[in-house]
Amino acid sequence: MISSVLPTYNRAPLAFVKGEGSWLIEADGRRFLDLGAGIAVNTLGHANPELAEVLKAQADTLWHVSNLYKIPAQQALADKLVETTFADTCFFTNSGTEAAELAIKMARKYWYEKGQPEKIEVITFEGCFHGRSTGAIAASGSEKMVKGFGPLMPGFVHLPFGDWDAVAEHVSEKTAAILIEPVQGEGGIRVVPDEALKLLRQIADEKGCLLIFDEVQCGVARTGKLFAHEYAGVIPDIMMVAKGIGGGFPLGAVLATEEAASGMVAGTHGSTYGGNPLGCAIGLKVMEIVSDPAFLAEVNRKAGLFRQKLEGLVADHPDVFEAVRGEGLMLGLKCKVAPADLVAKGYEQGVLTVPAADNVVRLLPALNISDDEITEAVARIDAAASAL
Ligand SMILES: Cc1ncc(COP(=O)(O)O)c(C=O)c1O
Repeated sequence: MISSVLPTYNRAPLAFVKGEGSWLIEADGRRFLDLGAGIAVNTLGHANPELAEVLKAQADTLWHVSNLYKIPAQQALADKLVETTFADTCFFTNSGTEAAELAIKMARKYWYEKGQPEKIEVITFEGCFHGRSTGAIAASGSEKMVKGFGPLMPGFVHLPFGDWDAVAEHVSEKTAAILIEPVQGEGGIRVVPDEALKLLRQIADEKGCLLIFDEVQCGVARTGKLFAHEYAGVIPDIMMVAKGIGGGFPLGAVLATEEAASGMVAGTHGSTYGGNPLGCAIGLKVMEIVSDPAFLAEVNRKAGLFRQKLEGLVADHPDVFEAVRGEGLMLGLKCKVAPADLVAKGYEQGVLTVPAADNVVRLLPALNISDDEITEAVARIDAAASAL
């Protein structure tokens, strides 16, 4: 008999009833050091007191109003995002997938309004992940995600990851946008080199298409910059954000330049919940905390410490690990064993990690993880690797 919850997930035999910072706790009191953070969501750890305070205050005041009306909390978060990024304007969603849908719509509408309706294609890269809607799976194109769900939304061109010099020849008069994660998450913590992002910006400018960055997983201070593309010193026309911006509350956003957003006039897009006062109040608090230069400096210091310890771990277990990769606190252990086996051994040691493609185990801790917790985390992964 089918379970009452649609069985689309392969769930671990763990159930948490409480969270405290970087720790998750089962009903019997067993504590797990969480290096997954809800897959890069719990930016400031579980049940963060500052966020809880904002949530409770907002819950006592106003939860939801329709976008038929002005929403001051939404305006405040939009102002903060505009102030701290390349963007001139923002639309709020509840998830990364919805952000992907709008980013694609926005790019197509831009060219339609410019009198070039033939520009509908979006170039994406092997290993990418932009969500599970029909549009987002078509964007990914991977067999695993699209099989059985056709017909797929047309208009995506899938290129290999890494052959950046070949991208220009695939940009045609039909190309609306190039869509890329500056650091692939699900694809296995694959960092797109700064030079490649610069090249994509140049190609987009020269050939006349938009550049969209998907920073749903790598954004919001995860890599040690507020947004990962800042390392390359290039800006996109459109950017997708979600996960970390809500610190655990479902919240996403599409950020854009005024020019790229010019086709999205009243009536062209909407969302019932997107930008509701609860989500935006929390999002604003998260942004205030993580955009502080002192906070970002701490993320980088901790990332350096974590990485150094992980390099030692890789050297100690040459049969289990191949390398450490990633940026900031978005780290991956490239494995010689099946990632799922290491993750499962981690459960026995009380440490939570997340498998990804390309034989990688992801480490995406809360950005305020302590030095002691980093040391403890590496000791627990060490024990898990030894047990393998
Ligand atoms: C880069 C990226 N884009 C989009 C998504 C989809 O986000 P959501 O699951 O919030 O819809 C994800 C989720 O993992 C992601 O990592």
